[in-house]
Amino acid sequence: MAEIRVAVVGVGNSASALIQGVEYYKNAKENETVPGLMHVNFGGYHVRDIRFVAAFDVSKSKIGKDLSEAIFTEPNCCVKFANVPPLGVKVSPGPILDGVAEHMKKPFNAYDGGAVEREDIIKVLKDSGAEILVNYLPVGSYNATRFYAQAALDAGCALVNCMPEFIASNEAWSKKFEEKKLPVAGDDVKSQLGATILHRNLVRLCVDRGVIVDETYQLNLGGDTDFLNMTVEERLKTKRVSKTEAVKSLVPYDLPTRIGPSDYVPFLENKKICYIWLKGRKFGDRPLTITVKLEVEDSPNSAGVVIDVIRAVKLALDRKIAGPLISISSYAFKHPPIQVPDPVAKEWVEEYIKGNRER
Ligand SMILES: NC(=O)c1ccc[n+]([C@@H]2O[C@H](COP(=O)([O-])OP(=O)(O)OC[C@H]3O[C@@H](n4cnc5c(N)ncnc54)[C@H](O)[C@@H]3O)[C@@H](O)[C@H]2O)c1
Repeated sequence: MAEIRVAVVGVGNSASALIQGVEYYKNAKENETVPGLMHVNFGGYHVRDIRFVAAFDVSKSKIGKDLSEAIFTEPNCCVKFANVPPLGVKVSPGPILDGVAEHMKKPFNAYDGGAVEREDIIKVLKDSGAEILVNYLPVGSYNATRFYAQAALDAGCALVNCMPEFIASNEAWSKKFEEKKLPVAGDDVKSQLGATILHRNLVRLCVDRGVIVDETYQLNLGGDTDFLNMTVEERLKTKRVSKTEAVKSLVPYDLPTRIGPSDYVPFLENKKICYIWLKGRKFGDRPLTITVKLEVEDSPNSAGVVIDVIRAVKLALDRKIAGPLISISSYAFKHPPIQVPDPVAKEWVEEYIKGNRER
């Protein structure tokens, strides 16, 4: 039976939506259109072929719990849309490193850090038979991300990097994966219909229709721990780079922007609100403005995309393709090794699935 063995680091809201999503769509029909998946059958792999075999976190309330329970443990606030049966996978403790900012110790209910070494993580990965490690660490986890990327390399796991530390899009790191004959996809997942893809499409529309874009901003509000973590500007430098480059890369001239997480509004919980504003000039230098407000449940917005990515990475493992996966990274991440317009990236992924594109 086909099986894709996945480990996750960071059992927060994104992991919750991913794990629930695999359960929710386990009986989807091959010809069914599932909102948020490219295909139910992705290169021969069904959603139900994904099996979670290991998980790491630093929360006292999550460590030691079955993963099916840990995903519904506070401060997680992702809506419950599937009943996940016991998975037989206990959440393992990981090192804290820079995963937990000072102001997040309490909200995450972080443990004292114990004495977890890289060898312990590698052992858990190897013993579980994990083939792919999905990184859901908080924004600002520079050292922790590199720690887990190295652990994946040492344990022989491919990496899916869902957060804005640059691994797949960093030459030195992607080369390490190539040398170990392992694929890597990233960085910073682009949600199904989130602020980034919407902003990219608005800007692209303007460029395609000959409108000169003079200024644009994208403000984001949310009420979960992802947003609370990002109230410290120091932690979100790479998030701003990732979100800003995703938009700017589509414009062939310099464009003044302000793009990023803007505030934490606790009662919004897992709801995210995004305001996009754009000012431009059309024929005769006549002004034009666009104002958009988007409201989404944040975590389920990225889960379908990650289910597709996991299956694309599994195809790479089957096909013995190593290093950065160009097509799926361009399609599914904000900061890929190569930025192309989204319709191009989608075509590349379809070709990749058929085996007509190597990576
Ligand atoms: N729409 C989306 O969900 C989306 C989109 C793009 C990027 N992301 C990124 O994905 C990441 C995860 O998002 P989230 O909403 O699940 O965050 P979250 O705050 O809900 O979860 C983070 C989890 O990581 C754990 N953690 C902290 N330090 C750790 C460490 N050293 N080792 C192991 N676990 C540790 C926390 O205890 C928590 O369970 C963030 O970086 C976010 O920006 C999410």
